[in-house]
Amino acid sequence: MTSLDGKTVLLIVGGGIAAYKTHELIRLLKTRGCSVRVIMTRAAEEFVTPLSLASLSGDKVFTALFSLTDEVEMGHIQLSRAADLLVVAPATADLMAKMAHGLADDLASTALLATDKKVLIAPAMNVRMWRHSATQRNLATLRRDGIAVVGPNDGEMACGEFGPGRMAEPAEIVDAIAGLLKPPTLPLAGKKVLITAGPTREPIDPVRFISNHSSGKQGYAIARAAVALGAETILVSGPTSLPIPPGVQMMPVETATEMLETCEGELPADIAIFAAAVADWRIAQHSDEKIKKGKGNPPTLSLTENPDILKTVATRKADRPQIVVGFAAETGNVIKHAADKLTRKGCDLIVANDVSAESGVFGGDHNKVHLVSSSGIESWPDMSKDDVAHKLMEHLTVMLLSSQEAAR
Ligand code: PMT
Repeated sequence: MTSLDGKTVLLIVGGGIAAYKTHELIRLLKTRGCSVRVIMTRAAEEFVTPLSLASLSGDKVFTALFSLTDEVEMGHIQLSRAADLLVVAPATADLMAKMAHGLADDLASTALLATDKKVLIAPAMNVRMWRHSATQRNLATLRRDGIAVVGPNDGEMACGEFGPGRMAEPAEIVDAIAGLLKPPTLPLAGKKVLITAGPTREPIDPVRFISNHSSGKQGYAIARAAVALGAETILVSGPTSLPIPPGVQMMPVETATEMLETCEGELPADIAIFAAAVADWRIAQHSDEKIKKGKGNPPTLSLTENPDILKTVATRKADRPQIVVGFAAETGNVIKHAADKLTRKGCDLIVANDVSAESGVFGGDHNKVHLVSSSGIESWPDMSKDDVAHKLMEHLTVMLLSSQEAAR
């Protein structure tokens, strides 16, 4: 049973015999944690009392458009916008006609015209009224306007006739409400995305290190875009001054060796994107104590190669992520070097960017990238790093989902 915790439904009760079912409807919604506010048309008051609906909903019931107190406490526009969903039950032929034609001559129809929220109607009327071409025309208009409809059901009517026109049962209406209020399924829900970002810091001694100008902005933007698509997002980041993007699992690291270990510890993943600017070398033997300025020559720093994180992950046998993306930071021959990296490092896609000083990419807010893969080169215009990130994540989502589809 879907919880409707924290949701608010504005229930508009029309004037029909089925109005008695709104007691049960309110009760069911409340058991699911949903708040219910009620507007009654004047005709509805002939079938149920405001008092009974107020005691079930636990809130005052709004009955007339020009009640000055109501307008001061909560205007009709506010009333319809404060809800997550408007439900019209029973939706009489008259209410449907008003909605279809945009009439607003009482509180119910005014709230319906003023709303910016989804609307669900549960029609209920005599079978001939339901079948009448005017009602069917209005129904078609309402559907075109994006109004959701539940029922009506077939059965014996209060007037003794038989056919479609009975209002859907309260449980059916609640199911329709739950369907409309459930969050949309995001394309990367259930998928894991691993992202590296920022620089690495390779210590020389406890106070000095080798690093680079990466700010982490591009990698963090990719992490935000992955979260927005519903992915479980792991951000393995070297030291940056950026805030942790909401929704990501942050794994702070310093050195390339730590970055590799952390990435390997996070496998398996569906997509891995290596946007970090990893130092290619580290000090072969860094000092545990601060190196003192001596009287003689400055010290000679001997370097050793760092592990290639991208290549290590992209060439793993058992748990290689389905899509492995590397970046190429180049200062000339961008496409050529990127194509070399694509094959040398065994990844599926390289995002190449020009990081020469005049490009302003390191630390800046913009980037101009080229996507290099076995299917060719796609060059994107200069964009904000956020836009690059969203476009890239959409591209990778299509790649992932279509390769999973093809594997089925
Ligand atoms: O952080 P910003 O200020 O926003 O700047 C963004 C950026 C320029 C850092 C980013 O867009 C970028 O280009 N990142 C990759 C930087 C880099 O190290 O490029 P590279 O061409 O040297 O390396 C190629 C690829 O191998 C990269 O995916 C890199 O993460 C990876 N690599 C490199 C060396 C290494 N030892 N291990 C790796 O995994």
